[in-house]
Amino acid sequence: MDSLRPERVPTDALPEFARAVNRHFYEGEGTEDVQPYLDAFATDYRAWWVHHRDRVAANLGVIETEISLTGGARLPVAAITAVGVAQTMRRRGLLTQLMRACLEEAQAQGEPLAALFASESAIYGRYGFGVAAQHRSYDAERLRINFRDPVDVRLVEETTSEAALEAWPALHARLGDEHGAVVGNSPGMWQLTVAADPPSWRDGATARRLVEVPGRGYAHYRIKGAEEALLPSGQVHVGEVFATDPEAYAALWQHLLDIDLTTRIRTWIRPVDDVLPHLVTDPLALHAADGPPLYVRILDLPRVLRERAYTTTGRCVIEVRDPAGPVDGRWHLEVGQETVCEPTTAEPEITLPVDALASVVFATVHPTVLAAARRLTEHRPGAAAALGALMAVDRGPWSPVMF
Ligand SMILES: CC(C)(COP(=O)(O)OP(=O)(O)OC[C@H]1O[C@@H](n2cnc3c(N)ncnc32)[C@H](O)[C@@H]1OP(=O)(O)O)[C@@H](O)C(=O)NCCC(=O)NCCS
Repeated sequence: MDSLRPERVPTDALPEFARAVNRHFYEGEGTEDVQPYLDAFATDYRAWWVHHRDRVAANLGVIETEISLTGGARLPVAAITAVGVAQTMRRRGLLTQLMRACLEEAQAQGEPLAALFASESAIYGRYGFGVAAQHRSYDAERLRINFRDPVDVRLVEETTSEAALEAWPALHARLGDEHGAVVGNSPGMWQLTVAADPPSWRDGATARRLVEVPGRGYAHYRIKGAEEALLPSGQVHVGEVFATDPEAYAALWQHLLDIDLTTRIRTWIRPVDDVLPHLVTDPLALHAADGPPLYVRILDLPRVLRERAYTTTGRCVIEVRDPAGPVDGRWHLEVGQETVCEPTTAEPEITLPVDALASVVFATVHPTVLAAARRLTEHRPGAAAALGALMAVDRGPWSPVMF
């Protein structure tokens, strides 16, 4: 127990693990704070820790779920979460050890990809994670947002968490048919995003409210009341808004914009190619800014490139720098009737590190931009542009649920 080596957490020690996760994120350690996680992650979850002198020195969790690729294929993904190190044990390499152990396990389990949201963008590139989905946040000025076309807000109905748990997963699944990088909600993630709602999660706002356009879309949010100089200035904190068609999408947004006594609508993980700015007359009133990106680590490149869809044909020899990692080496990619990706000794046309490769494969950053930033080397003029054309997508990647 005191070896300073990563170990899998025994099932009967999960409450101690969950308390440590909350402690290292500066959150409450009481039963009501940790029980929702214990309930949600009783299955499909792999917990790792480093134990030192009868205390948890470091922790990391893996949700077993799936991720969408361009074209709608789904692959298993190790969705990494709950990463934390005790304040007195930081900067001694514990995260590095935990990450190595969990990525080796993911490979052994046949997960070709690992994914995470990062608290700070400088941390995970060293482990091979690159941006697979860029996002936008909005801090919308409620009273300045008007839709170009009439919106039928009567489509929107209130619902309960029980009904949402029944109906929403099928809708969410359709997201991955359109966008790459959608990390599928596991049953435990649905519990956390829709059902569990202890007061300590509310930060002074209301309990979570759930609304839907039945069979077409849903949203959940909280309202935080406030007043400034005797005028109401509350905020709406939106968790998710998603719809399968623009009419339902506009109706859900209109519902959020109609909430009296509020002035701002805040939301954090919108897609870069969101249609909302095109539906309204004053898109700058959304006050869009960067949102938290999804980072992905490629573990099995041939499988990912074979399963991904392409809209054109082509070939490329790619040299990947992944020191001591599973993707290191030269790869011949041929996209035709079938896609082939295999090791080769041929001269490379492109060289790039494995973290940048994730951005290329998910079409998040164009290879010519990476070349201009010296994150990618082109050995043949035009090779970066050609690779960008091969990887092009209609709708960009989006992973709307933080884990
Ligand atoms: C972030 C955290 C997990 C790092 O753990 P750690 O055990 O101190 O990390 P390590 O000692 O293994 O550091 C590995 C490398 O990452 C770097 N690093 C660690 N934390 C970093 C940070 N916040 N920003 C930039 N670099 C960081 C280290 O300097 C080290 O670099 P090196 O390999 O060049 O020497 C820890 O500081 C922590 O628990 N922070 C608060 C909770 C949190 O942010 N969790 C992450 C959620 S995604």
